[in-house]
Amino acid sequence: MSHRPVLHGTEGESPVLALLSPKPGETVLDVTVGLGGHAASLKKEIGPSGRLIVLDADQANLDHAKNVLEGIPGHTQYHHANFRSLADIALPPCDIIFADLGVSSPHFDDPERGFSFRADGPLDLRFDRSKGRSAAAFLARAAPDAIAEVLRSYGELRGAGKLAHALSKKARTQESPLRTTDVRSCVEELFGYKALSILPQVFQALRIAVNDEIGALQSLLHSAPKLLKPRGRFGVIAYHSLEDRAVKQAFRSLSTPEKDPEKGGILRESPFELLTKKPVTPSPVEIEANPRSRSARLRVLRRRA
Ligand SMILES: C[S@@+](CC[C@H](N)C(=O)[O-])C[C@H]1O[C@@H](n2cnc3c(N)ncnc32)[C@H](O)[C@@H]1O
Repeated sequence: MSHRPVLHGTEGESPVLALLSPKPGETVLDVTVGLGGHAASLKKEIGPSGRLIVLDADQANLDHAKNVLEGIPGHTQYHHANFRSLADIALPPCDIIFADLGVSSPHFDDPERGFSFRADGPLDLRFDRSKGRSAAAFLARAAPDAIAEVLRSYGELRGAGKLAHALSKKARTQESPLRTTDVRSCVEELFGYKALSILPQVFQALRIAVNDEIGALQSLLHSAPKLLKPRGRFGVIAYHSLEDRAVKQAFRSLSTPEKDPEKGGILRESPFELLTKKPVTPSPVEIEANPRSRSARLRVLRRRA
């Protein structure tokens, strides 16, 4: 399987490695190991005296990453877990915490996972198929207003109300659970020639809702900074504006010094500093080689000494 980690560049010029600056002997926590591309580079940099801990909600990706990472000298600990529950896992203080949010290529490539509207498959869309409910179950049970709200807030969709009613009706009246092609035909019936530009928004909205991606991210943004050692770095790559806004706001609030409300001077320095005043984005060369990288935004925070 060909795999190109985002914002990884070619060896020696990776924005992720440049900002996270891994050093021999350090402890690294990758909370979205995926296929292990970033984790492999980080593991090589920290060397055999370092410690790598990886997580993924998707068991198949975690297994794939294990195959990759076991070929590199050093110790790695694997957790099939959601980063929402970081606080429940016994973790040591870390020099680096890294999250590369969202979907990986196998999610789109395997029709059985239901992430792609281009192939027929069960409408699942969960990262972790051992927990929670599929998108088909969500559409069959949620009220049309709740479905419309999901389409509106996570897909920024116009005409969310009528699509929500159509999807809900189809999910409740059809004998078998909805498939990706059922959603596609509903969108095509309602939106005609515009369907192809609307379908990615619809699938994105369902995916964010089914995996509670914003809730999980908020929880990560709350718990990860507490795990950082002095001078520890926390990097997050976000792929859509809702995620990036949450990261930007959390990092800004953690890196803003406490000011004297009367005199305006700094009362207390913030415990963290922002290493990225603006988000780092992929180069035109990377976007051309990997169009999925085009929306990536990397932000990095560092705990002060
Ligand atoms: C963009 S991929 C990561 C790619 C990885 N950096 C690499 O180099 O291969 C995102 C991964 O995060 C996982 N994921 C998404 N949300 C998660 C969550 N809340 N907890 C744990 N893993 C999650 C997905 O299953 C997927 O494998």
